[in-house]
This record gives sequence, structure tokens and C-alpha cells, in this order.
Amino acid sequence: MCGIAGYVGNRNAPEILFDMLKRLEYRGYDSAGIACISDQDVVIFKDRGRVDEIRESAGCERIISDIGIAHTRWATHGEPSECNAHPHSDCTNGFIVVHNGIIENYRDLREGLMERGHRFESETDTEVVPHLIEELYTQSFEVAFREAIKKLRGSFAIAAISIHEPDKILIARKESPLIIGLGDGENFIASDTPAILPNTRRILIMDDFDYGIVTKDRVKIKDIRTGDEIKKKIQTIQWSMEQAERGGYPHFMLKEIFEEPEAVKNATKAIKEIEDIAKKLTGYKRIYFVACGTAYHAGLLGKYLLERFSIPSEAVVASEFRYSTVNTIDSDCAVIAISQSGETADTLASVKEAKNKGAYVLSIVNVVGSTLTRISDDNIYTYSGPEIAVASTKAYLGQLTAITLLGLYLAGESGRIEMDYVNEIIDDINNLPGKIRQILNNEDEIKKLARRLANKNTFFYIGRRLNYPTALEGALKIKEISYVHAEAYPAGELKHGPLALLEDGIPVVAINPNDDLFRKMESNIQEARARKATIIVVGESGDLKTPVIDPLLSPLLYIVPLHLFAYHISVLRGLDPDKPRNLAKSVTVE
Ligand code: F6R
Repeated sequence: MCGIAGYVGNRNAPEILFDMLKRLEYRGYDSAGIACISDQDVVIFKDRGRVDEIRESAGCERIISDIGIAHTRWATHGEPSECNAHPHSDCTNGFIVVHNGIIENYRDLREGLMERGHRFESETDTEVVPHLIEELYTQSFEVAFREAIKKLRGSFAIAAISIHEPDKILIARKESPLIIGLGDGENFIASDTPAILPNTRRILIMDDFDYGIVTKDRVKIKDIRTGDEIKKKIQTIQWSMEQAERGGYPHFMLKEIFEEPEAVKNATKAIKEIEDIAKKLTGYKRIYFVACGTAYHAGLLGKYLLERFSIPSEAVVASEFRYSTVNTIDSDCAVIAISQSGETADTLASVKEAKNKGAYVLSIVNVVGSTLTRISDDNIYTYSGPEIAVASTKAYLGQLTAITLLGLYLAGESGRIEMDYVNEIIDDINNLPGKIRQILNNEDEIKKLARRLANKNTFFYIGRRLNYPTALEGALKIKEISYVHAEAYPAGELKHGPLALLEDGIPVVAINPNDDLFRKMESNIQEARARKATIIVVGESGDLKTPVIDPLLSPLLYIVPLHLFAYHISVLRGLDPDKPRNLAKSVTVE
């Protein structure tokens, strides 16, 4: 959600900044901009639109600069427009700022600044920052920056440059991600690792209340509150460049769907940690899964899985958990937070609240070193590799695998199932990547079905028990990237209202594994068919055919054709599945 970047070194800053922005574009893409210091002057290029368009009009080759900051925006305050695009500057054009997050007290700050004669050009919350620095500046950019940051409430990752001290970028972080990439005679600032991968793998991770002074040869990190210097450990990014590239696929989303077999395999690498953590979990009376969006659907599977083994559990979306469910949490509870990015604001807030209530917190996370991993008691990594497409696909498979293994070990450890059965299912999980590949090899059939239904504007998805989350996830995917109205229901619920909406030709996607509820699902399908709905069954003998699988693992297989189906519908409708409108990856605001 908004990407920020910075560069200081000996190379051409505008070129590097636009390259970095391109790699951060998944975080927001309604407008973008860069600011560089060139010849004691500030040059700003910003506009509404995509990074490539703005880059072209900027004409980087004409700008000579070795320091600058950049931003790709997902609008919060003020519509996407040239004046609301970042970077923002003060009245003198001497201090320039980019920001990710929300400054909650910006109205008060803005009113005060206006009363004191400052002129504002945008509707953003961010613009107060350069004006505050301007007002507080006497001799030191750093002092003015720190004093300005101390006045802000809310969340922020901020980078600032100044013509008064053109050799440095000042940065600060609270509740929005920010890293520093360490180069040789050059340094980089970014919201996320893919932006700096082509240049360096050595990074420093900023924590809440850290601020930094970054020149081409030096990085100093200090505490915003005390001004004391902080020593940070240099971390190494494990992801490769290829993983963060499209690699011949037309879209990241398609590439990532084709990486789903590896996502399952990679998640099993954590099997030893999962086994140990499962033992710990047996000591808790109630288990809560907390997450947002797709990750919440993974949590819901966790709940159904544990209930299957008679272990009480609940799944709650983080934006509700943090304000309601948390009132019921105590030290008898274990909270399992699930997140691809490890930076989702509501999930982080839920974890903090749960910890305050004495709960044990386990996180299932993809991004190593993300904020969530640093505030949890234990972490299980899914090792899915970088997920760049806004819509989550392979990360979901990683989450489902980790949760299934955890549920199995927990049930085994608490004596609800035999360990032999656990090992049998683990063997099946090891065979799962091959079965997923069989589905992916059938892409043409899925595409054919998508062609038949691409002009439909309403879809229903139904499933029961473990595959109710699959229905929810299938519906979410198609609605977010294809802009069709899609609803998911537990199949038994259809006749309690939604059936009224069914009419001739409306597609109903029914997920029907070969289990004890197979016949019940058949009846629900018949009810929809009787209203002339177009039925698409996902299952062993369905329209979207799936290999034979233990029903317990069916959610890990049945979502795959639905991901591909949603992708093709989006492309057939002429849309860009990697950058759905109004959305952004990594939702770092509430
Ligand atoms: C949907 C999607 C989102 C995310 C949600 C949580 O395709 O990607 O719903 O799943 O924003 O994000 P993470 O997992 O990063 O916490």
C-alpha cells in the first residue's frame, strides 16, 4: 500500500528510482513521482497514472542527479491526481517528502501551519510533513526532521531530502515497512525487498520509532524518541532476482499460479518447527485464527480442520478481532496470525492486542523479517518466494499447507488421531505438487470454460465445511481481478435467501469433494439447476476435473483451477489481473 524508494550514490538517481518504483508498483499504482536534487535545485516529476507513463514524460536522461526519493501511490487522502501525487514539498521547495501510511492528526497540524502562513497544494495528509520540517529548520536538517516526526500521530514510512544538505536522505518508520539496502558507495531505501534486489541483498530493517540518516557511504539509525544511536544487524535477502521477475509469463499472477506446486513443497520445509509448535499448542484451551482477505480464508480452513478433530477454534477477520473478539482473549488462548506480507495493519494490531491480553501468538508468514515475525512468539515460514501480483495465489497454497500440517500434528499430539494417519496424510501432501501440476497441464480446458462464461456479471460459489473457504477464496479472486459480482455461500445456506437471485444462466461454481457430504452437495446443486443456473462442478468427475485426493486435502487442490479460471476471465475481459483497480498489495493502513 504505497511504495517508497530512495537512492544516494554515484549513479543516475532518476533511472534507478524509476526501476525501483516499477518493482514496487504492486503496492499502489494510481499515481507516481520522483524528486531529485540536481545542481542545488529540486526536480520533481509526478502525475496520475502508471510508473512507465510518468517515466517516459520525465525523460530521465536529461536529469543529472545522484540523490532522490520516489513514490508509487494508493490513494488514501485525496483523489489520484497530479497535485496529490507524491513527492510533496514545503513553501520554499527546500524540503521534499514521500510517505506511506496515514497521519491521523494531519488536520490539526495543517490548520496550525496554515494559520502561520504555509500554503498547501494538495489534499494529502503527507504535505504537512515538509511544511513542518521547513518551520522547524534552523541549521540542521536532521534536527528539524526528527522534531517534525515527533509531532506525527498514526502510521508512516517517510523519506525526505533537502537542498540545504543535498548529500543525505532522512527516513523514519512507525507501523509501515521500510528497509535500507546497503551498496558499495551507494545506498537504497525501499518499502519492500523486490525494489532493491537487482542492486544488493544486504539490508537493514527499520523498526517502529527508528529514524535514519543515509548518505552514499554511511547509514546511521537512531531512536526518534531519545535520539540515541541504534546498532542494527545486517540481514541477507534469500530471494533471487528470477523469483521477482515475470520469467516469460504475461502476468505475475499466472507465473505465481504455476508456482503453486512449489509453494506446497516449500511450505513442508518447516515441518520440524510445525511439529514442535503443535506440541506447544496443546496447552491452550482455545485457538483463534486471525487474518485478512485470502489469508483469512486460510485461517477459516484451519478452524474447520481443527473442528474436524474436535479441537475448539475460531477464525476471525483481523479488522473485527482487534475491536471485538479481543475482549474475550486471555492467557488460555493461542492466536494464529496468517499473513503473506507480514505487514497488514489490522493483523499486526490484532496480534499486539492479543499479546497485551496474555495470549500466545504464532504467525504463519511468507516474508522473512517482516513486522509480524518480530512481534510474534513463534513463526512458521511458508517460503513461497516473492508474491508480486496483487491477488494472492501461491502464498495461499503455502498457508494451507502449513495450516494442514499444523492441524494434523496438533490432532495427533492431543490424541485425537493416530500418528500413523498423520504420516499417511503427510505422504499425500508430498504427492500434492504432482497433482497440482496435472490441473495446471489442463489449462486449456479451464480457459475454454472461462471463454464460455467471461461475459457473465454474477457468479455464485458454494461449498461445505473444509471447502466453504475454497468457495470464499474462489469468489474473492474472481471479483477482485475481473470486477464481476461473486458471492460465496455454505451450500446449505443457499435456500435461506440467495436462491432468490438465481435465474437462467447464472453460473454456480460448486465445490464437491468425494466425501460424506457429497450427496448433500448434489442436492444443493440440483436446487440451483432447477432454477436454470449454469452449474460448474469442481471435483473428481466435475467440469473442472481434479485428481483423486483424500478429502482432507481437497482444499489444497480444488482452489487451483479456480485461481486459473479467475485469471482467464480477467484477461478475457481485457483487464490487467496483476493490478486490479482500487486495490494494492500489503494493506498497511487500517
Ligand atoms: C486477495 C489478497 C488480499 C490479502 C490480504 C492479506 O487476493 O491478496 O485479500 O490476502 O490483504 O494480506 P497479507 O496476507 O499480506 O496479510
